[in-house]
Amino acid sequence: MHFGKVSIHKRESENIYLLGIETSKEIIKNFQPGQFIKIKINYRLDPLIPRPFTVHAVEENNFYILYQIKGKGTKALSKLKEGEEVEFLAPLGKPFPVLQNYVICAGGIGIAGFGYLLQCANSKNRFKPPDAIFYGARSKSELVRLEFLSEFKIPLEIATDDGSAGYKGFITDLIEEELKKEHKDILACGPLPMLKKIAEIGKKYKVRTYLVMETFLACGIGFCRGCVIPLKKGGYIHLCVDGPTFLAEEIDLETIS
Ligand SMILES: Cc1cc2nc3c(=O)[nH]c(=O)nc-3n(C[C@H](O)[C@H](O)[C@H](O)COP(=O)(O)OP(=O)(O)OC[C@H]3O[C@@H](n4cnc5c(N)ncnc54)[C@H](O)[C@@H]3O)c2cc1C
Ligand code: FES
Repeated sequence: MHFGKVSIHKRESENIYLLGIETSKEIIKNFQPGQFIKIKINYRLDPLIPRPFTVHAVEENNFYILYQIKGKGTKALSKLKEGEEVEFLAPLGKPFPVLQNYVICAGGIGIAGFGYLLQCANSKNRFKPPDAIFYGARSKSELVRLEFLSEFKIPLEIATDDGSAGYKGFITDLIEEELKKEHKDILACGPLPMLKKIAEIGKKYKVRTYLVMETFLACGIGFCRGCVIPLKKGGYIHLCVDGPTFLAEEIDLETIS
């Protein structure tokens, strides 16, 4: 486990928070986009298991996570005060694949993992910038970090279910329109129904489609077998060590609910 100190804790929408953790540069230099951390919410026994969050951004000796309140762990996380010490395990999982000519598709809090990818692509390391970012949410109030995203000067397409910002409807409609014009690979993170639709679109347009999956995680390091993802060819892989990003055509999405 590593230690850090809360450097910033900011509400971004009703249920979404940005948490900055200051730690050593030695730890942060190993982080790659797409990897995640597991953070121990507090030093009491409950919640016992550290919760996983993707690295959202990195700045000198700070890294950031963007999280949505779901249950007791994230509720407890939202109570952390600036200056408090936190314990975390990192970096975990595999980085995103290195893609050229691709688009990002984020649904809701799925935007969290892409900030660091944009930062790395912007600093001209091996990750390349996407051609466009497609970002959907239920309504305008749930679209977060727009100012940060706009810093990268990458076309940003917005959709909201209620039409309060951007296109009225699902972000997958906009992705499909884009692919009709030009075939591009897709890197997607968001709710399971969105990922299933993205997989269908990717198959229809014959583009490489990568999905960032979520399961319940326990150990986070490949021991407990608590995070299995079923494969189409049979058998399983483990999200914590083989993922969280997978080629859509390889995983059996039908059996995941
Ligand atoms: C690799 C990985 C990276 C993640 N990155 C982020 C991130 O950057 N930002 C973010 O907000 N969230 C992220 N998550 C999801 C986050 O870890 C969960 O929302 C969090 O652990 C819930 O904890 P809790 O104690 O608040 O909720 P709990 O009390 O444990 O559960 C509350 C509700 O959420 C559901 N739930 C809990 N965990 C998951 C899960 N992993 N998948 C699906 N449903 C779940 C439960 O069924 C329950 O209904 C990530 C998950 C994984 C596996
Ligand atoms: S969480 Fe234990 S094996 Fe993946």
